[in-house]
Amino acid sequence: MDLKERIGRLIEKLNELSYWYYVKDTPKASDAEYDRLFDELAELEKQDTSLIRKDSPTQRVGSEPAAEFGQFLHSPPMLSLQKAYTMDELALFLEKVNRFLGNDLEQEHELHLEPKFDGLSCEIIYENGDFIKAGTRGNGIQGEDISFNAKTIRSIPMKINRSETLMIRGEILIKKEDFSKLNKEQAAEGLPLFANPRNAAAGSIRQLDPRITSKRPLFFIAYDLLGIELSTHAQKIEALETMGFRTSGRSGIFSTAEKTFEFFRELEEIRDRLCFEIDGVVAKINSIETQGRLGAVSHNPRWAIALKFKAREESTVLNDVFFSVGRTGAITPVAVLDPVEISGAVIRNASMHNREIYIALGAAPGDKVLVKRAGDVIPKVVKVLDSGGNEMIPFPEHCPSCGSDIHFQEGSPIAKCINPLCHTMIKERIYHFVSKAGFDIDGLGPKQIDRFMELKIITSIPDIFKLKDHPEIRLLEGFGERSFQRLTDSINSAAHVPFYRLISALGIDEVGEVTAKLLTRHFSALEELMSASADSLSGIEGIGPVVAASIYEYFNDPGNIKMLEEMISNGVVLLYPDNNKGKGPLSGLNFIFTGSLSSLSRSEAKRMVEDAGGKVLSAISGKIDYVVAGEAAGSKLKKARALNLKVIGEEEFKGLFK
Ligand code: IVH
Repeated sequence: MDLKERIGRLIEKLNELSYWYYVKDTPKASDAEYDRLFDELAELEKQDTSLIRKDSPTQRVGSEPAAEFGQFLHSPPMLSLQKAYTMDELALFLEKVNRFLGNDLEQEHELHLEPKFDGLSCEIIYENGDFIKAGTRGNGIQGEDISFNAKTIRSIPMKINRSETLMIRGEILIKKEDFSKLNKEQAAEGLPLFANPRNAAAGSIRQLDPRITSKRPLFFIAYDLLGIELSTHAQKIEALETMGFRTSGRSGIFSTAEKTFEFFRELEEIRDRLCFEIDGVVAKINSIETQGRLGAVSHNPRWAIALKFKAREESTVLNDVFFSVGRTGAITPVAVLDPVEISGAVIRNASMHNREIYIALGAAPGDKVLVKRAGDVIPKVVKVLDSGGNEMIPFPEHCPSCGSDIHFQEGSPIAKCINPLCHTMIKERIYHFVSKAGFDIDGLGPKQIDRFMELKIITSIPDIFKLKDHPEIRLLEGFGERSFQRLTDSINSAAHVPFYRLISALGIDEVGEVTAKLLTRHFSALEELMSASADSLSGIEGIGPVVAASIYEYFNDPGNIKMLEEMISNGVVLLYPDNNKGKGPLSGLNFIFTGSLSSLSRSEAKRMVEDAGGKVLSAISGKIDYVVAGEAAGSKLKKARALNLKVIGEEEFKGLFK
């Protein structure tokens, strides 16, 4: 095989690997294997530089930084979208479409739905199958030429199998996990943080040095194609996929406002589990002919609308900062804010993560800050928007609870109190231990724990299981014979606990329910887990060296060993998966949930079923024994009714566990 042929084969192979990795999210080789082939190609190209092809992966990164961005003109202009937040607004949009077309107002149209990606829009031009140039949206007519940076994005093909002059439009994005990693790196280097993945993507693409951009894991998701005559938007998406572009992967075609809104709500429900940030759904009239008749008004097409999720970010003023001690001893800076409503909740406090991030944020009292609330997680301060000119409150050197020295570990962003007797740390551990993430003890929450700790009835976790030996509790204000009985009953029943729940109750650093479950698959008894080596722990798929070290440390701490022994001798009984099988009251029964429950989260409800031996399925079928329908139950409920399945409400569901 001659040099040219070998180069050609390597280019094909590497581009194919990139396609599987960046477009299909399905790696077909290890990074090392890719790098080996890449180096081989670079070596061969050096032997005869006249053989370097434009679509060679070695050509993605130009070597010299540019002096400035050139201009990029959009023709036709890149429009923006009209917005809707409610079903009524969506219905109004559809009515307007019909009014403009002179149709019956009820006339239905196929709507092509896809996620609205929260990144920055970009247009790419291809001629004769070659990538020619790429530009940002700018003001819609004129943007910036970012060709040299777009070329570093591996989900943008350098060659496609179409000869027409094509314009491909889409969104440049960074994955949420890569954004967090990037911010951690920024913080470690003392650089300012990006407020969100969109800003991180924009900051990465607006680099004059493509070598920096090439190190940022950017993606391109295509949503529009101009230059080929097609009759529907769905065909455009299909054509884009055939050309090798990444597309949303989650689209739907529906014809009514109800169905469209259902798709929107379903996407909102899963948005936190998606790897890219989305902020709504874009609905487009599927027929290109109808789109043409509708045209545009000012900057918006009449044939498309963005259905937006409720905002999760708001700006407010930072009034003060205090430092809290968590159950692992970690000191968290907490922002005291001017109260602000974010997606339905009034937010007064927000986390500023850890010492390193606090310093990188640089937030001082009086600053205007951006606060974000995502899903169930604690609100966070993500950026200073406007400085009030005050000094930052310095990070403390002593534990705000016990006053002992704070430990700053080399290489760790987290500052910790390491005094095992720190009162707040112990209290936080106990709170966590009895919480829903742990033993889930009814009637024993922070309020009761504070009181019992004050009276020294509880000084450590094992004491919880000896509360029955403290009849004096009955004499406390707010307690009586009955509530004492109820409390001891719920402690007794909670004391029989599945193995994984004990592990997650311990509050080991970096170990939540998922890791706990993973551990119970590899260790059949507590003793086995306690004597595992750090190596054998990190050998488990899904457990990295940091988590392994944390678990190892926990179970080799004499204080923790003593605590566990005491707990067992005070009556905690571990239920191991095997002894548990088939014994639960719900064993053999299949459940499905639809709509939202008011007193339980989905994950709590799921766990209740699983702990009782039942199973939770995700698709409606004849196998389902109970359909649990919450508020605003959707299509699943309809299907369940059609199949004549047993449908129960939230109260009835809870009754199954009494
Ligand atoms: S279609 C004329 N589809 O949203 C139609 N846009 O305000 C133009 N966006 O700047 C856009 N995801 O960057 C379309 N699936 C999607 C989208 C999407 C995100 C962005 C786009 C545009 C903005 C519209």
